[in-house]
Amino acid sequence: MDTQAVKTKKSASLNAQGSKRAKHLSYIDLFAGIGGFRLGFDPQGHKCVFTSEIEKNCQQTYCANFGELFVYGDITKILEKNVPGHDILTAGFPCQPFSISGRMKGFDDTRGTLFFDILRIAQAKKPRVLLLENVKHLVHHNSGRTLETMLKHLKELGYFVEWKVLNASDFGVPQNRERIVIIASKDKPFDFSKMRTKPRIALKEILDANGEFEYLDPKEYTLIDNPVEQQSGLIFVGHRNKGIRVNGVRPGTEHLSRVHKQPNRIYSADGIHPTLPSQETSGRFWILHNGRVRKLTRNECRKLMGFPETFKFVSANGQYYKQIGNAVVVPMIEELAYQIEKQLF
Ligand SMILES: C[S@@+](CC[C@H](N)C(=O)[O-])C[C@H]1O[C@@H](n2cnc3c(N)ncnc32)[C@H](O)[C@@H]1O
Repeated sequence: MDTQAVKTKKSASLNAQGSKRAKHLSYIDLFAGIGGFRLGFDPQGHKCVFTSEIEKNCQQTYCANFGELFVYGDITKILEKNVPGHDILTAGFPCQPFSISGRMKGFDDTRGTLFFDILRIAQAKKPRVLLLENVKHLVHHNSGRTLETMLKHLKELGYFVEWKVLNASDFGVPQNRERIVIIASKDKPFDFSKMRTKPRIALKEILDANGEFEYLDPKEYTLIDNPVEQQSGLIFVGHRNKGIRVNGVRPGTEHLSRVHKQPNRIYSADGIHPTLPSQETSGRFWILHNGRVRKLTRNECRKLMGFPETFKFVSANGQYYKQIGNAVVVPMIEELAYQIEKQLF
């Protein structure tokens, strides 16, 4: 057992096969972050029996919210035999390249990646369902070969495998956040078409009514004429004047930030908000609401991820934005948890 591996309070009382009670399912939370999967699964009576998360700040936030004394650390150092039996394996894992060279046997082409660790735990513990989540880009990663390899190995373990790109904006959250969800199941394939979606709502419907809002002076930004709502529901309305880049940039992109082209953009609260990224550690998300441009508040970022008001964020500001930007949108996970139980158990 690795040095970070310490028992969770809850796993101690479980038998080796996990706690399969009628419709109260056991699950493990891998790459747990701050526990977005728990917020979707626990309220439906399911029981988390094992958690792994490598990052100390995330571990602290997780423990503060779910009553765990500790969580396990680096998954690559955890032996399968030390993971308790479980019905469902959940993982919002980081995407890494594989070395696909010639004909590989077993999982060798995934060795050295974190997907390998998911496979070895699934092979040993045989959960009935795996729920995997990743960025939409996984679909196109390495010309589609990365996803193809993942699906192939899950099928080789005897699972039906279905996947779909889901958008948070279809689950009552006004954020354009697309994620690939892969569901591997032992008994029959998962049917994504049965998922219940909600009509899209506008950002203005969840904004705080009061607060110490950080407004921009009109001199600090430029609004465009005739903004249009994109198919996604985004309405780009302008950009901050700050940080205009001139050298080596394509015409028309001078206002975009060098790294991920988001923080200088301004979106209308009449539309939805773009993806909250984990790299934006100052939370510079600017919105046009009631004719003025202001920064989205921390509380509004929380709402944009569907996290409850009672959730405790115990880390410093930069970590807050990183953690929230890495998380899963809770109402989407709630619906997945509901459908998995209904369709597959
Ligand atoms: C995309 S985030 C998942 C966030 C999570 N779904 C949530 O709702 O907060 C991936 C997480 O995997 C963690 N991670 C990366 N490598 C790891 C490893 N070797 N062992 C355990 N966790 C790891 C990262 O620290 C990060 O928090």
